Amino acid sequence: SKKWVLMVTAQTPTNIAVIKYWGKRDENLILAINDSISVTLDPAHLCTTTTVAVSPDFDQDRMWLNGKEISLAGGRYQNCLREIRARASDVEDEKKGIKITKNDWQNLHVHVASYNNFPTAAGLASSAAGFACLVFSLAKLMNVQEDNGRLSAIARQGSGSACRSLFGGFVKWVMGKEEDGSDSIAVPLVDEKHWDELVIIIAVVSSRQKETSSTSGMRDTVETSSLIEHRAKEVVPKRIIKMEEAIQNRDFPTFAQLTCSDSNQFHAVCMDTTPPIFYMNDTSHRQKVLTGCQLFRIIGCVEKWNCSEGTPQVAYTFDAGPNAVLISRNRKAATLMLQRLLFHFPPNSDTDLNSYVIGDKSILK
Ligand code: PMV
Repeated sequence: SKKWVLMVTAQTPTNIAVIKYWGKRDENLILAINDSISVTLDPAHLCTTTTVAVSPDFDQDRMWLNGKEISLAGGRYQNCLREIRARASDVEDEKKGIKITKNDWQNLHVHVASYNNFPTAAGLASSAAGFACLVFSLAKLMNVQEDNGRLSAIARQGSGSACRSLFGGFVKWVMGKEEDGSDSIAVPLVDEKHWDELVIIIAVVSSRQKETSSTSGMRDTVETSSLIEHRAKEVVPKRIIKMEEAIQNRDFPTFAQLTCSDSNQFHAVCMDTTPPIFYMNDTSHRQKVLTGCQLFRIIGCVEKWNCSEGTPQVAYTFDAGPNAVLISRNRKAATLMLQRLLFHFPPNSDTDLNSYVIGDKSILK
């Protein structure tokens, strides 16, 4: 038979939650215990690029992450591949003389090469960009006729936060009610142009991997924390409504207050877990990362500045890793914030603070 390879390349940015997802009600399908809201970043700074290829010569599915082969045996990859294959349709490339039918896809194997332009698994939601990009590129390759909302429910099964990276701008992950997860999908709230004054600064640290994976961390929190139920049932639903309103109205003071409080509560439920999880202050015992102490100083610095200005200039949020994400109300505030950061935490060989990534337009496609 004639040899051929068909390829698709896609690029997907990561996202940062401003109302956090923490806790699953179904671990296999990855169904959350609360809604969450995130902002999708500028792909120029933090994104995954994935190429997927299919050929009759491939005898198994294989994947390379940043040039190194990884196992696809895990349930999450298998779930994504299975769900996409189940929705594949006919593909025809007359020029190359390729014709793949819906049924052929069940027996054809794919090769996947994925690159992150930022530290993997350092709490910068690399899995979010990674699974979103994998699902999107496979869907294009296999000519899946479904919208990004439906694709988000597949990406969710790779990594919960990944479902929110299928859209730009501000995005809500609706937890849903159904047992099969069919209504647990991402919904775009406003596009990237809606609030383009915002500038996001991320203090990116070394490629150190986080100590407690979000999967085991969430499991421990749901099993042992008494605060998590209060958070999921009483606090987050109200915050989601207020946050949507603040985003619609470009109300930065409310946005900043909710973002900072929600980050702090996420870390509070982590600390309320047995054994406690210290994403924010457990970062100092290895060289070359921002220390926990520095992260707390960043919070102090922002709180003090916001207070002295009379109205918030910058919001902070921290995920499950040692990076500080700062969202400034505008370019001027971002410049002043960056000056402060560089003054207090200059990039040097002690901290290996690789760079401060500044979202040029902050929110893009
Ligand atoms: O999608 P996961 O399993 O990597 O979990 C992400 C959890 C947080 O980043 C801490 C919060 C969020 O909503 O992204």
